[in-house]
Parts: sequence; structure tokens; C-alpha cells
Amino acid sequence: MSAQISTNGTDSTIPYVPVTGQREAATERKRAFPYRFPRDPRLLGGKFTVAANTRRLLRFFYFERRLAQALGAWTLSLPEFEVKLETGRHIFYHADAARLLRERLSEQEMRVKDVDAFRDADIDRFIEEMLSATNAPEFLAGVHQVLGRALATAYRHHCDDTDPVTDAPTIRCLQRVLTDYEPMLAWADAALGAYVDGGVNESQLAVWHWHLQRLLASMGGVTASDPRAEAPSPLRSTDKPFVRGTVPLRDARFDTFKNTGDYDTADGQERFPKDSYEALRLRFIRTQRDEVDAIEAFGTFIWDIRFKDFQAEYDLARITWDEARHTEIGHRALLAAGYDPFELRNRLTGSTCRGPMDPAFAMAEINLFGEVGVLKTINGLIDTAAERKDELLRHIADFIRSDERTHVRKGGRILQVMTDLDAKALEQRTRELFTECLVSLGAVKQDMDVFTVSREDIERLVGE
Ligand SMILES: [Fe+2]
Ligand SMILES: [Fe+2]
Repeated sequence: MSAQISTNGTDSTIPYVPVTGQREAATERKRAFPYRFPRDPRLLGGKFTVAANTRRLLRFFYFERRLAQALGAWTLSLPEFEVKLETGRHIFYHADAARLLRERLSEQEMRVKDVDAFRDADIDRFIEEMLSATNAPEFLAGVHQVLGRALATAYRHHCDDTDPVTDAPTIRCLQRVLTDYEPMLAWADAALGAYVDGGVNESQLAVWHWHLQRLLASMGGVTASDPRAEAPSPLRSTDKPFVRGTVPLRDARFDTFKNTGDYDTADGQERFPKDSYEALRLRFIRTQRDEVDAIEAFGTFIWDIRFKDFQAEYDLARITWDEARHTEIGHRALLAAGYDPFELRNRLTGSTCRGPMDPAFAMAEINLFGEVGVLKTINGLIDTAAERKDELLRHIADFIRSDERTHVRKGGRILQVMTDLDAKALEQRTRELFTECLVSLGAVKQDMDVFTVSREDIERLVGE
């Protein structure tokens, strides 16, 4: 072995064996090569094996999945308009992070089936406690300032610690997640600042913040590899397990109604002649703003069907974000039409009925009646808007139509996850439940012994 020349590192396990002339020839060829491309400074190394990587990524996946579900559970109970909207968006950010991590895990020796089946009792305990916030500011503090911030830090550390060459796909995955985290966490800090400036008790928030920090530390942090601290006691969620809210909350700027589905009836007067283009146009824009209730519906479904099917959770999360956009579109279109959006009364009829309902029937109502109903009239509305050169309505309805078509397409599969009932039975039971609810709200009069509102009545009264 005397021909061997030792490489610089003395611990190399692969002996270097030269063939006479090859290295000199290579040096000569390199000298003759004219291009000096940028150097890639990344080195081999990194802290993790595939197994260690997987263990961490699986926890990240689970946290993201649980965050999407947890935010969904609170959608009805967040009163402030801006917070409900942002939360609709954040639900999708977390679901999408889970999707990216799930995909990476499937490339790291895990079967998707096993990724979806993963559960962790410590993480569940933390999520349950975080859900047990007593108000919206406490909930935001737990979601963003405790857990969100800890996850963002863990993702950055993981990018720094893993091999930048062999594990580049994980780094790209986490960096994409962090792209959503940055504005999300910055928004949460600003929102909590607004709550405190507006009179929310800061020290009470700090007590809750500290409590959740200690709970997270007691499980070794998000990666479970930090030294474990003593768990705080007692936990709110042990005293009283979390149950999601069922009543749609609105902030003090809104004037709400639920005794009718009809805007003119709610206002006590007609702004425009019934069925005129102007009436249909304003109804469409108001309905979009009032889709703040669709954030509540789809967000709540994610919680109610949690763990049944990842793809259904993901599709619901995306629809929730879309409905947050429809709400924003409606709010801005009202402004562009010369209204203060808060001068127009907010319809709570649909959400009040759906809130406590089994998700299959609530989903059937909003998807099979509401969204399908929109598609029946929207083509005519867009054509009329184009004829009248009403660019505001044509523009917003064009995008909303494509979203709602997508929702109807995804809805069928989601409903299959929610129920075994056939289409006819599902529609019948949904109509019965809504009849009961609408009668109790005074939105329809029960004038016969056997009476069930028609599909068309629900489309008209509840609207979407
Ligand atoms: Fe919508
Ligand atoms: Fe929709």
C-alpha cells in the first residue's frame, strides 16, 4: 500500500489511489477551461440522519395540522372582523405547511398513511390548553406568540443544522413555510398590540403566555429535544375539556340580524325595486361581505371532522381562505360603491343555524345549496354587468365564480368524508334541520303541519 498518498483528512475510510498522470492531466484540462462559474460554498455534513430528520419533521407536520384544526375551532368565537379574516388565511397557511411537510416525509422513508396516523399526546395536551383561552387575544397569544414563534425558530434552526446538500429539499420546504410565517407572526404582534392599546389587560395576557411557554418547555419544546422543565399546574383543559363555540360572534361595529334572510326585510325598506339589477348587484356585494360566516362554516368543519382525512382537511382549509378573500372583496366593493361597510346590517341567519349543527348537514347547506345556488345566477349577473359596463361587479364576480366552481367540485369529495347518507337523504335531512332552525329564528312562518322549506327558499334565505 505504499503507493497510496494520504488525503488531507487523516480519518478518511476510503483510501486515495492515484493512477499515474491522471491528476496532472485533470489539472491541465481545468487550466484550459475558460469559464469561472460561481462557487457553491455548501459543505457536506449536518446534524441529522434520515431517521432523525423524520422524527422532527413528523412533529412539525403534526403541529401544523393541529394548528389548522385549532384555528378552525375558534372561527365562530373570534368577534373582531379583521381577526376572523386573518385567521381564515392563517388556517390555510398551516394546512399548506402540513401538506409540504407531509410530502417531504413521504420522501424520507415514511408512508403517507403513517404520516396521517401520527399522534402525539404531549402535543395534543398543549393544543387543548392553547384552545382553552378565555378570549380572542389569549388565543392569538398562544397560537402565534408562543407556538408560532417556537415553530419558526425550530424551522430556522433545522435549516441551519441539516445537511445543505443531501437534505436541500427539507430546507426548501421549511423556507417556504417561513415565508408565510413572517407576515403572520408580525401581524399577530401588531394585533395583540392593538388589543392592549384598546384596553385588554396586558398582565393577564402575559400570565397566559408564560403558562403556555412553561407547558411547551415541559415537553422539551416543539422538537422534544430540549431539556424538560416542570409542567405548570393546574391546566385549564384538565379542569374543563375544550368545547368549540357554536354562536357566531361579531364585534361592536356590526349591526346584525338573524330573523330573516332578506336584506330589505332586515333594513325595513327597499333601496332598489325588487329584482332590479341595482338590487341584485347590492345583494351580491353584501352577500360577499357577509361570507365572513363562510369562514366560520368551513373553519368549523375542519375541527369537526379532524383526523378523518387529511385531503379533506386541506381542501376545507383552502376554501376557508377563499371565503376570507370573498369577505375582503365584499368589504372593499362596498367601499368602492360608496358605502361604509358597517352601515349595512350583517346577516347571521345561516351561521346561527349551522353553528351547532352536525357538519354533514351544515356542509350540505353551504355547499350543495349555497355555493351551487350562487352558480345558478352568477353567469347572468356577470353578463348584465358587462353589458352595463359595471366593471366593479364584473371584475369581482368573475373571480368569485371561478372560486365557487372550485368549491362545488371539492365539496362532493369532502361530503363523502363527512357522511354515508346518499344525496337524496342528505338533502331531505338538511332541509328539515334548516326548516326547524329558520322557524325558530322567525325567518319563515310555519303555516302547515307538515312543512319543509324548499331548496330554493334556503338558497334565498341563507344565501352565499
Ligand atoms: Fe364564497
Ligand atoms: Fe365558497
